[in-house]
Amino acid sequence: MLGLAVPRCWGPWRAWSGASLFSALWLLWLFWEAPGGAPAPQRTLTILVWNWPFARRPPELRSDTCARLGVAHCTLSTNRSLLALADAVVFHHRELQTGQARLPLAQRPPGQPWVWASLESPSHTHGLHRFRGVFNWVLSYRRDSDIFMPYGRLEPRAGPAPPVPAKSKVAAWVVSNFQAHQRRVQLYRQLAPHLPVDVFGQANRRPLCADCLLPTVARYRFYLAFENSQHRDYVTEKFWHNALAAGTVPVVLGPPRASYEALVPADAFVHVDDFGSARELAAFLRGMNESQYRSYFRWREWFQVQRVASWEQRFCAICTRYPHLPRDQVYQDLQGWFQA
Ligand SMILES: *[C@@H]1O[C@H](CO)[C@@H](O)[C@H](O)[C@H]1NC(C)=O
Ligand SMILES: *[C@@H]1O[C@H](CO)[C@@H](O)[C@H](O)[C@H]1NC(C)=O
Repeated sequence: MLGLAVPRCWGPWRAWSGASLFSALWLLWLFWEAPGGAPAPQRTLTILVWNWPFARRPPELRSDTCARLGVAHCTLSTNRSLLALADAVVFHHRELQTGQARLPLAQRPPGQPWVWASLESPSHTHGLHRFRGVFNWVLSYRRDSDIFMPYGRLEPRAGPAPPVPAKSKVAAWVVSNFQAHQRRVQLYRQLAPHLPVDVFGQANRRPLCADCLLPTVARYRFYLAFENSQHRDYVTEKFWHNALAAGTVPVVLGPPRASYEALVPADAFVHVDDFGSARELAAFLRGMNESQYRSYFRWREWFQVQRVASWEQRFCAICTRYPHLPRDQVYQDLQGWFQA
């Protein structure tokens, strides 16, 4: 895949993004990590999912679940009687946190790799101090995870880019949980006097149905992709789905610019940290001319936003990464690592 895809994209990419080291590394990473990009081991691996995320009952999994997702020699199972045989066992954090699931520590076969899985931020993750020296690998949105699972990705575009949706309004924000202590709320309050922002979502009693969200926000020039908390690499569907996939320009509040540049080209978003004040940010957004505005969509000529991954895809990815994962690694201080 690397050999096929890179030449197709590399020339035009360089032409418009200059000699950006970030872009080059990012492109390399994109193809390196693409599903199915690394050879799976020949022996069939069994991944036991001890507790399915956010579910009382696990879904029915077919024996060829991973094969259908492009990962060969990989069986996902939720059958706990396979504990002794599994090549790795994955635990989703939320159910461990609530006590709905427990670690089978007494039955753990010696040397069996255990995977800690979560896509939540440290602000919504509790009880990690109980897991000292338990897990070998981490599956999360953190880029230094053993199994890196961002909330979205860019992938090479198949056909011509769709036109940028027609714009009639300035800035939209969708927010359900609005609390004065949140940085995003403080920033919104500073921004609002200088920029017309339409606020949707539960917090403003203007909820948008799932199918209405994209067409609604697509009419805005900018989308406030403000994360609810600011943590290392924590970039969610607010950025990928609500902004990039909708065809609007994300104005981001989250981790530093470099974290975003590891995911998308540097000129695909506006970062609030680039401005000294909310007033300056508002002036920049309002004063932007049409050619400058269009430049934020250049990535769309070559890339599209990949569909949100399912938990099946995420867990099958453990097989893809398996041959490369460190066998003797243990997270002695998972809490310290995650909160760093
Ligand atoms: C779980 O695995 C055991 C051992 O292979 C098997 O006997 C049992 O039928 C399986 N249970 C289900 C629900 O598939
Ligand atoms: C649009 O804005 C950019 C950046 O400020 C500037 O370089 C460019 O000359 C402007 N283009 C037009 C047509 O005004």
